[in-house]
This record gives sequence, structure tokens and C-alpha cells, in this order.
Amino acid sequence: MASPAELNVSTLQSPDLEKRRKVLLDVYEEVYRERLGDPFFSTPRYWERLQGYASRQGFAISIGEAGGTPIGYALGYTLPAGSGWWRGLSSDVSKDELHEDGHRTFALTEIMVRESWRRRGFARRLHDELLANRKEDRATLLVLPDNTPATTAYASWGWQKLGELKPFDDSPTYDAMVVSLPIAS
Ligand SMILES: CC(C)(COP(=O)(O)OP(=O)(O)OC[C@H]1O[C@@H](n2cnc3c(N)ncnc32)[C@H](O)[C@@H]1OP(=O)(O)O)[C@@H](O)C(=O)NCCC(=O)NCCS
Repeated sequence: MASPAELNVSTLQSPDLEKRRKVLLDVYEEVYRERLGDPFFSTPRYWERLQGYASRQGFAISIGEAGGTPIGYALGYTLPAGSGWWRGLSSDVSKDELHEDGHRTFALTEIMVRESWRRRGFARRLHDELLANRKEDRATLLVLPDNTPATTAYASWGWQKLGELKPFDDSPTYDAMVVSLPIAS
């Protein structure tokens, strides 16, 4: 059984996702197989979102391989000045807290590990490598409140809930989380 030390993580800033399309979608379709029938989670919609993220300033993706097998990945980008990321946040947070100047916040938009590779610290490794050496002051992500593995992981990695947020008309309502960078080890 592979341990975090045996996980090989490559972090890329290249927006050329096309070359990695098959690997990224194979992992996604395995991890999200039960949701693929929902239009928001369908593979074409997901691929469109990934391409959108990859076109953003500050995009990065950390891809993990154990023994030559892709086991998961994490990715995100820098929120642009005036970003609409926080639009629809339900809690009473000061405007200053939500102000984006194009340098302040890294949005972690995906993190996933294939089922048979979970609980080995691999998501933690992907998370830490993606967020290492970032220039932003903080990171943000959206998580479904009933996603116990993810909410437990984020809490134990220092993330805090800022409020609830529904990013698209046809998307669920998520918990919006933040953590200061650099991540405390
Ligand atoms: C969330 C996810 C990425 C975690 O991956 P992982 O490689 O198993 O995570 P790690 O091994 O690094 O675990 C880190 C911590 O998360 C928590 N955790 C992970 N799975 C858990 C579970 N099933 N129940 C409770 N806590 C869990 C634990 O605190 C764990 O630390 P521990 O093993 O020392 O107790 C994985 O479950 C996944 O891919 N889920 C589907 C995709 C997803 O929901 N992504 C997040 C979207 S916001």
C-alpha cells in the first residue's frame, strides 16, 4: 500500500489541459460517478469548467501518481480583481473581507482522490503542494455541507467557514471556506 511519501506530485501552471484530458476525466468520472446524471456534474459541463479555470490568471494543478497510476488531483486559480466569487454569500461579512484585488485569494476549485487510494494522506499532499509557495494571502473553496470526508479534512487543515453560497442557478448551496496562506503545517 502506497504512503504519502510514495506519491509523486507534479504541479503545473500550463493551461494546456488538452494533453491530460483523458486522465483528468477518467478520475473525475470515477469519483463523481453517482452524480454524472445531474447536468451540473455531467462530464461536458465539468470539462467546460476546467477549461475556464485553466484560462485564469494564477491557474495551477497538482496531479498525484502512485506507482505510475493517477490517483487524484487538485487545482485552482487566483481570483481576479472584482471577482464575482463571493456573490450570493448569505452571511453578514464585511465588504473588506470580500474585496478581491487580483492578488489576494487563491480559489481551490477541485480536489479529488480515487476511492481505493483514500485515507492515506494523499489529498493532504495534493492540497499542500498546490498551495505551497503561492503569493496570495488566503485561499477559498466551496464544499457541500454534507460532504463529511471533505468538511472534516478542511477543518483539520485549518479552513474556516465564512458563509453559504450558491454560485450558479442550477448548482447546490455550498459552504464557503477560507484559510490563510501559507498553510500552517
Ligand atoms: C475529500 C477527499 C479528497 C479526501 O481524500 P483523502 O485522500 O482520503 O484525504 P486524506 O487521506 O488526505 O485525509 C485527510 C483527512 O480527511 C478526513 N477524512 C477523509 N475521509 C474521511 C471520511 N470518510 N470520514 C471522515 N473524515 C475523513 C480525515 O480527517 C482525514 O485525516 P485522517 O485520515 O488522518 O483521519 C476524498 O474523499 C474525495 O476525493 N472525495 C470526493 C471528491 C470530493 O468530495 N472532493 C472535495 C470537494 S469540495
